[in-house]
Amino acid sequence: MSTETHPSTAEQDEHHDEDENYLNHESGLWSWLTTKDHKRIGILYLISLAAVFLVAGVLAIIMRLELSGPDQTIMSNDTYNQVFTMHGIMMVFLFLVPSTPAILGNFALPMQIGAKDVAFPRLNDLGDLCDGVCVDLYGDQLHRDHP
Ligand code: HEM
Repeated sequence: MSTETHPSTAEQDEHHDEDENYLNHESGLWSWLTTKDHKRIGILYLISLAAVFLVAGVLAIIMRLELSGPDQTIMSNDTYNQVFTMHGIMMVFLFLVPSTPAILGNFALPMQIGAKDVAFPRLNDLGDLCDGVCVDLYGDQLHRDHP
């Protein structure tokens, strides 16, 4: 007679639950974009803000190129002013200011205070989407003629 014991279905389920976490409890882009999980929202902000940092960093490189020589002109004075302004605004208002509250505030703070989740998770998601829309609008201003 075999003495081998097999885990019951309940035990299997329990084991399965232990393996489940905020990264794998649901999969697919839509589940991420519509998530109400505060850790996932924190990760989404991390990705958006990293993208903003990258775009503003590219603008910094463009400025560096312009300033790399005394008579270097890869763009007009007006364009330089626009690039300068966009770099500053993006770095400060779309990266620096929101980074700590959006990323750490969503990911870590609920755990620190023992809360199950954040209030108004869908509004929180919308905030992340607005960040993307803002970058789009700012970028749109770059190639417009200003009086
Ligand atoms: C978190 C905020 C910011 C970060 C991380 C940041 C980062 C950088 C980096 C890495 C460069 C390239 C430096 C180099 O090539 O020598 C740069 C250049 C520049 N940044 Fe920022 N920046 C920030 C905010 C601002 C603000 C608020 C302004 C102005 C309103 C600004 C104006 C400039 C200008 C004019 C340059 C070109 C200077 C040069 O390359 O010599 N930056 N920035």
